[in-house]
Amino acid sequence: MDRLVIEGGFRLKGEVTVSGAKNSVLPVLAATLLTDDTCVIKDVPNLRDTNTMLKILRSLGKQVEYHKGIVTVSSNKCLNFVADYKLVSTMRASFCVLGPLLGRFRKARVSLPGGCVIGLRPVDLHIKGIRSLGAEVRVEGGYVIAEARRLRGSRMYLGGAFGSSVLATDNVMMAAVMAKGKTVIEAAACEPEVTDLADFLIKMGARIKGHGTPIIEIEGVDKLHGAIHKIIPDRIEAGTMMIAALITGGDLTIKNVLFQHQGALLDKLEEAGAIIKRFDSSLRVTRKGRLKPINVTTLPYPGFPTDMQAQIMSLMSITAGISVITEKIFPDRFMHVAELNRMGAHIQREGPHAIVEGVKGLSGAQVMASDLRASASLLLAGLAAKGKTSVSRIYHLERGYENIEKKIIELGGNIWREKE
Ligand code: UD1
Repeated sequence: MDRLVIEGGFRLKGEVTVSGAKNSVLPVLAATLLTDDTCVIKDVPNLRDTNTMLKILRSLGKQVEYHKGIVTVSSNKCLNFVADYKLVSTMRASFCVLGPLLGRFRKARVSLPGGCVIGLRPVDLHIKGIRSLGAEVRVEGGYVIAEARRLRGSRMYLGGAFGSSVLATDNVMMAAVMAKGKTVIEAAACEPEVTDLADFLIKMGARIKGHGTPIIEIEGVDKLHGAIHKIIPDRIEAGTMMIAALITGGDLTIKNVLFQHQGALLDKLEEAGAIIKRFDSSLRVTRKGRLKPINVTTLPYPGFPTDMQAQIMSLMSITAGISVITEKIFPDRFMHVAELNRMGAHIQREGPHAIVEGVKGLSGAQVMASDLRASASLLLAGLAAKGKTSVSRIYHLERGYENIEKKIIELGGNIWREKE
């Protein structure tokens, strides 16, 4: 296992280009199961999670080629409808092969995703949705087994205790595109990645309206065909880079950003005193002096993303004053708090709130990454800290940030990898 060593104190400066969105590419790749035709997906980030999804597609019988950010998926043999535990347990997003397998073959056997360090992550909404389309669903030996003689469109409410679900909306949408008649999903997730998946399905011949709003309407069709699609930019990588500029007192131009996807984050950063210039597909981020504390509550899109909660906490840990961060999507997603405190931050957790008392500066320490976004928060803290920070279990970072070390080094950061 590798660890990442960061020598803090360098201001990041220059231009950086954001990769395609991880949370978009995973369901889009799963959607290629809905046809035997060739699909070409562009701007595919080279990530551990992407590679896991490509392995799953291969294990289901797809032919997959990946070259310079372009994935070509085709089929020349019968597809399998069993998604194995070994692959699904390593990544929760693999569960989104359930919808397309069921939609296409009327049967699917998909391992339940494993536990997750950011808290309980049930799949009840996924199951509720596909049951509503007429599938019989049972859980047996750790697998979800779904079968239907035919899927019929229906009206369903997919909201849960923590709001809408991104992957449940994706799964139901992919199962419904070839169901008989009309499906209406109420309380659908509105995240840009759900919209990107719907756009890809429409290119494949699906009839979908209302994606990007809480009510999605789908008119079933008999067959889908191949399509070419370019993945949207990763708004979480872009947000992480914005914070890298601010936490180091640097000056970054971040390219390949759709700022209409960044409303809540830009609002909060500007409230804290960041100077953000918006261009057609890029942003320039700087600050003058120390940032002010802010209160942040994570919410489903267009609210503040839970996937930026850990990173903004690192930033708030060195502002002048007290910030309160409330986590409303995954109330236990606070594994980074103890690690940031090891670096000299003053953060106290009170249930779903973290009270961050800003300190003058952080100091390098040995810390441990517990999940993807927590790793990003420790990397950011390390860039700002005095001295060396070493982040172990860095494989978490590789799940979601393409070439992150190279990008940071090109911007003037001093980071390297060591064997643990
Ligand atoms: C997706 C993202 C993840 C992000 C999350 C929330 C991908 C690959 N991952 O995960 O990066 O942090 O959205 O924006 O796109 N829930 C239920 N029952 C269910 C499903 C979810 O109660 O059946 C709850 C979850 O525990 C959570 C909330 O709903 O409290 C939102 O989770 P959800 O949107 O489903 O997260 P994912 O789609 O797994």
